[in-house]
Amino acid sequence: MYLELKNLSKSFGEKEVVKNLSLSLGKGELLCLLGSSGCGKTTTLKMIGGFLKPDAGEIRVDGQNITCMEPEERPVSTVFQSYALFPHLTVLDNVTYGLKFQKIKKKEAKEMGMKYLEKVGLTEYAHSKIHEISGGQQQRVALVRSLITKPKVLLLDEPLSNLDAKLRIKMRQEIKQIQREFDITMVFVTHDQEEAMVLGDSIAIMDQGNLIQIGKPEEVYTHPANDFARNFLGVSNCFRDDAGNEIHCRPEDLFFAVEGNIHGEIIREEFLGFYRQYYIRVTDGSQVLLRAERDIVRQKGEKVILGMK
Ligand SMILES: Nc1ncnc2c1ncn2[C@@H]1O[C@H](COP(=O)(O)OP(=O)(O)O)[C@@H](O)[C@H]1O
Ligand SMILES: [Mg+2]
Repeated sequence: MYLELKNLSKSFGEKEVVKNLSLSLGKGELLCLLGSSGCGKTTTLKMIGGFLKPDAGEIRVDGQNITCMEPEERPVSTVFQSYALFPHLTVLDNVTYGLKFQKIKKKEAKEMGMKYLEKVGLTEYAHSKIHEISGGQQQRVALVRSLITKPKVLLLDEPLSNLDAKLRIKMRQEIKQIQREFDITMVFVTHDQEEAMVLGDSIAIMDQGNLIQIGKPEEVYTHPANDFARNFLGVSNCFRDDAGNEIHCRPEDLFFAVEGNIHGEIIREEFLGFYRQYYIRVTDGSQVLLRAERDIVRQKGEKVILGMK
């Protein structure tokens, strides 16, 4: 495995915020570290980047133990949430900044910088100042500034959270494209489940410093390790059928049937454009969510029977 975290732990005072975390990632893969605010994502990333020292455990990149290395010695680069670009420098100077420390000549650095800017469609902005370009463009500058130093692993901490919803979706695709083009191994931190599903070759779900599950998005979605994972990645129903058996299922796995042993009554209907969702009170008193195609119409108060795919 290209990136390996082995039994990483970190406490702040009494509070253990990363607990015995182990995970690994293959070369050229994108891992999304997903979890709610405060679960230890940034702390984990900072330990990989070298900005925080783990209390215990080991970090390996490409077989090399980097646990005790300084941040600048590591074959790892971090794109921070704020981008941390230099506002008084041009786009090109921002991009080539990291090359100064690699003893690369100015002329060569400029050529490299232009080549990288071309790859992300920013050639014409090379001599613009940072404040003269848009948020999405700044995001790309931050990315190529990290990529130009040819790190083995690129770390991104909620890089899209400062962008508006539309741009966030567009940048998702761009980041994925850039990741493939540069064949770079990435750890992408997010609290957005949709972002994690779209971007990740794999997803690692964290809760209160623990790794709950790691796997391909589809695996994690269809075979969640526990209720936390099931509820975190998408919506989940938990109820008992008429016979008292406990059922866990997703809203899209339920349908209106002619017979069966899940009886209920429609309490609310919502039209969401390309689908409808129904809130249904079932026999055990729970409220269950069902998602159906838009042409499947039921009325509030209607008695229904539910089937499960
Ligand atoms: N330098 C610090 N000192 C004390 N507590 C911290 C420090 N950094 C983070 N924490 C705490 O550790 C927990 C995890 O934080 P963090 O890794 O930033 O979470 P996330 O990025 O998932 O939102 C939080 O409860 C946070 O308050
Ligand atoms: Mg964070």
